Amino acid sequence: MSETVAFPQDRTCPYHPPAAYEPLREGRPLSRVTLFDGRSVWVVTGHPEARSLLSDGRLSANRQNASFPTPSRRFQGLQDRRTALLGVDDPQHNTQRRMLIPSFTLKRTAALRPRIQETVDRLIDAMVARGPRAELVSSFALPVPSMVICALLGVPYEDHEFFEAQSRRLLRGPEVADVQDARDQINGYLAGLIERKRTVPGGGLLDELIATRLETGETDVEELVSLAAILLIAGHETTANMISLGTFTLLRHPEQLAELRAEPSLMPEAVEELMRFLSIADGMLRVATEDIEIGGVTIRPDDGVVFSTSVINRDDAVFENPDALDWHRPARHHLAFGFGVHQCLGQNLARAEMEIALGTLFDRLPGLRLAAEPDLIPFKPGDTIQGMVELPVAW
Ligand code: HEM
Repeated sequence: MSETVAFPQDRTCPYHPPAAYEPLREGRPLSRVTLFDGRSVWVVTGHPEARSLLSDGRLSANRQNASFPTPSRRFQGLQDRRTALLGVDDPQHNTQRRMLIPSFTLKRTAALRPRIQETVDRLIDAMVARGPRAELVSSFALPVPSMVICALLGVPYEDHEFFEAQSRRLLRGPEVADVQDARDQINGYLAGLIERKRTVPGGGLLDELIATRLETGETDVEELVSLAAILLIAGHETTANMISLGTFTLLRHPEQLAELRAEPSLMPEAVEELMRFLSIADGMLRVATEDIEIGGVTIRPDDGVVFSTSVINRDDAVFENPDALDWHRPARHHLAFGFGVHQCLGQNLARAEMEIALGTLFDRLPGLRLAAEPDLIPFKPGDTIQGMVELPVAW
């Protein structure tokens, strides 16, 4: 067999799949890639095959399985603890997910829109007052989803610097010890918060879960902490990256930006297309528990399987001219929110936040532009959620 591609790799341009993944596009729908530890695993790059495998019960999300793939050295050592939702299979997964679904429906999310709009307006007012320059990640892209998820969960936003810094360490800390310690810090913080809320309840989702699930014995503190952690982290890190990278991408595509400004009703389609084009969660992980025949290959039990969403979402058999950013294509069947039982629980919320944040930002600041050389603006490494580390802008 010819030499396999190393996976994951850093992007060369923040909004395109890494140039080194080119052979994976030719090798569709499945090929072999090599992880940092030399382990060879399957990478899924064909869109129909990814949909089929992501709904296949013979692939497991159980991170405690010794054969579960690890994407890079610093994530070794996370296998020893329970990870709610994303790290468990049915029936446990189904039980956990059913506890949360009512809070993330389209209707519940629509009711949050005025609050999201108010948050966005307030942050832009503050930027304008300090302007005409800003670092957009810290002044806008991160606080929008962070404030919204805090309000939804009932986590005090005053603690944001702590949990944002720990999430950053958890996802990007250089050493195994940073990653483990960051996870312990977040879990410890949430355990303390839950304990306080048991005596002095507030009005968020955590308070609701304490009253209806914890005090009734349906769940325990460890499981509730794990659920709270995934909601808090996934709830702010991912959307923040979409807002920062989405803004960068729009500023680098002036024609598409002009079209969007001229026709703001295109925003929902633009958000779907940006989700497809940017595919920021690039490398979902699974392990096989049985033989699976697909795309002319046989996946064997204990084989690691990774899904490269950036390559899947540019499958030219499904998306015409996939490397172009085009508001008029049907993009909704992208897999940037995953697929199957683990498909993103917060997708309605994320869509509302992105539509309001990007729409209002470009509406309020017509002269918005990058305030540094695009090639010098730092973006995130390939083994974590993709996005901008910083985004200097002016208007
Ligand atoms: C644009 C922003 C977002 C992106 C790109 C994104 C992406 C994803 C993806 C790809 C998955 C599936 C992972 C897999 O199957 O291995 C996922 C799952 C999940 N997401 Fe999101 N997400 C976003 C926003 C959010 C928000 C705002 C929340 C929270 C409130 C959230 C909560 C979750 C949860 C809890 C899961 C696990 C679901 C399960 O296992 O049943 N996400 N997300």
